[in-house]
Amino acid sequence: MPDLIAREGEDGWDVAWEKDITPWDAGAPQQSLVNVLKSGKLPFSTTGRALVPGCGRAYDAVAIASILGVQTTAIDISPLAVENAKKFVKTTAPDMEEKITIKQEDFFKLDETQPFDLIYDYTFFVALPHELRPAWAAKMTALARPNSYLITLMAPLGLPKTDIGPPYYSEPAHYDELLDGKGWEKALDEGPVNSTEGSRWPQKLVVWKRV
Ligand SMILES: C[S@@+](CC[C@H](N)C(=O)[O-])C[C@H]1O[C@@H](n2cnc3c(N)ncnc32)[C@H](O)[C@@H]1O
Repeated sequence: MPDLIAREGEDGWDVAWEKDITPWDAGAPQQSLVNVLKSGKLPFSTTGRALVPGCGRAYDAVAIASILGVQTTAIDISPLAVENAKKFVKTTAPDMEEKITIKQEDFFKLDETQPFDLIYDYTFFVALPHELRPAWAAKMTALARPNSYLITLMAPLGLPKTDIGPPYYSEPAHYDELLDGKGWEKALDEGPVNSTEGSRWPQKLVVWKRV
């Protein structure tokens, strides 16, 4: 992955999908996400709108739409990821097609005039170079309605410390520095736990409330 992105820039993501170099793809929704959505620990909206940036095949977008029943927008910059996601929904969750909109879009260019009630980040934060992290936080803040939630499923954790990526090295403290007390407060902090089968690295789930 690092070679591909260094060589091809943004288009590297499409090449990764084309060549099937997708080590993050668990083939199923993340169990920690499913658990928190079903736990009743937080009053997630069941009538509003959810966003999944860097959605890949959209397993998690399907989980959000089906568990909460919210209109879910799943976006990815890679046209091939979007095509794969549309196929995935059509073949495995056709009843969810009305609830899910899958679009090729750059997260940083998303329209801010229609904010979301829930945003979910799994391996999108770590897909971005370190210098884009403040812009990631600013965009998350702009896209979130007051009292909405941002679920950060922090992964992969415990990688060797290096500036090379993706995935770009991250620790829970990196999310804290950008969000905690800066328009967001921690509503739930769980883990670290071993990942869903299919991903090798530990992960940690933190839910943030937009204040
Ligand atoms: C590590 S993958 C994670 C995919 C997905 N979350 C999953 O778990 O399968 C990161 C994804 O982010 C997408 N991506 C990278 N930069 C993006 C951007 N600026 N806007 C939207 N998607 C982007 C890539 O195309 C890639 O599919």
